[in-house]
Amino acid sequence: MENRRWQARARRHLHQRGLHPVKALLQSSEHYEHAGKHFGEHGISLSNLKMDVAKMIGRKDAVVKQNNDGILYLFKKNKVTFFHGRGSFVKAVDGGYEIAVAGDKPETLTAKQVIVATGSDARPLPGVAFDEETILSNDGALRIGAVPKKLGVIGSGVIGLEMGSVWRRVGADVTVLEGLPTFLGAVDEQIAKEAKKALDKQGLKIELGVKVGEVKTGKKGVSVAYTNAKGEAQTLEVDKLIVSVGRVPNTNGLNPEAVGLKLDERGAIVVDDDCKTNLPGVWAVGDVVRGPMLAHKAEEEGVAVAERIAGQHGHVDFNLVPWVIYTSPEIAWVGKTEQQLKAEGVKYKAGTFPFMANGRARALGDTTGMVKFLADAATDEILGVHIVGPMASELIAEACVAMAFRASSEDIARICHAHPSLSESVKEAALAVDKRTLNF
Ligand code: NAI
Repeated sequence: MENRRWQARARRHLHQRGLHPVKALLQSSEHYEHAGKHFGEHGISLSNLKMDVAKMIGRKDAVVKQNNDGILYLFKKNKVTFFHGRGSFVKAVDGGYEIAVAGDKPETLTAKQVIVATGSDARPLPGVAFDEETILSNDGALRIGAVPKKLGVIGSGVIGLEMGSVWRRVGADVTVLEGLPTFLGAVDEQIAKEAKKALDKQGLKIELGVKVGEVKTGKKGVSVAYTNAKGEAQTLEVDKLIVSVGRVPNTNGLNPEAVGLKLDERGAIVVDDDCKTNLPGVWAVGDVVRGPMLAHKAEEEGVAVAERIAGQHGHVDFNLVPWVIYTSPEIAWVGKTEQQLKAEGVKYKAGTFPFMANGRARALGDTTGMVKFLADAATDEILGVHIVGPMASELIAEACVAMAFRASSEDIARICHAHPSLSESVKEAALAVDKRTLNF
């Protein structure tokens, strides 16, 4: 029972601060962009189009509340007792642990099994604290009250690109400063290049290879001194600055020392492949441990741990955790990138198919991007699938299923896909591995 309580806490944390609120804002801002820039192509004309930011933020809050209420309902339904407050280890007791919950109604609980799922916090730039007014983490970026004229973003990772896209679409002039010389280094290079082209075209200004220096806040906003890729000194003046340079595991107030729970040098709880910590009966999952900081990875780990506690054989295949970046076009992938296969010396075949040649994408008016398959040169087993384009977040699921069953690219190529649908591009990219595309 106790472990369920802890899992529950982690889920609530995610929904309030993480993924759902961003998706709600991405949807609203995308509607606005479509209405302003693309409805005309469909013969729909609008006059006096306006964005009510307060309403957009209000809708986002309502979506978050619905999700949170849904979780509270699920707790009740599944007989999970929920304690609202900050939990910390007090001491080890006979066969278990004492845990204090500080909150409106302080409690002390004892548990034989404990799952820590305390998530992560935004990492600030050294010496530049978040005030959530002008220097914003993703929390503050979700609550900006009016469209800033000029918005700066440090870090062109997942949060920087998603939040930068939201505020650009509703009218902000957005500049993203990225430290690395390559764009989205973890993404397949060909896909990242295609995504960058699309984002550039939309007017998101992304500067790569910069070195950020002093950040000063004043009455008028923020000024960021930086050196560009050519080594020239520059200053970026903006009304607000989002700092999205990664997140750090959160063990604030958890009091791991009280029980001797081991953390690594990054502050992450040390776990083995099964999410076991150094303490018997204590498990840890999600952003607070190694691996990608993704909600669905955390959920899989949580379920696997619950199964292990119940004496079953929980398992997570970390190679099959899909990634999605909810920009427009969306970027999604699973498995190995082409550069990883090259580095590992694996012999592979690649096949791509552009959405430009897909009938459904043309009807949608959204033909940017492609699907890319990477398959083992000898066995044809699918090793990675990479998508940049419309509904990539949904299309990637087919690749996950195929790879979980260790399918070959020919297996996908031989499956009947509905016409016209975006999913035909997945089939065509699989056919392209063997140079047999039908419609390109
Ligand atoms: P990130 O790790 O995705 O990107 C951080 C970026 O900042 C990197 O490109 C890095 O090179 C750059 N950077 C670091 N220090 C810098 C500096 N001093 N100056 C300039 N650039 C610098 O981290 P992000 O975007 O903050 O997201 C945190 C985590 O949250 C990620 O692990 C991500 O997976 C997760 N997340 C996932 C979402 C999704 O699945 N769609 C949505 C939101 C967050």
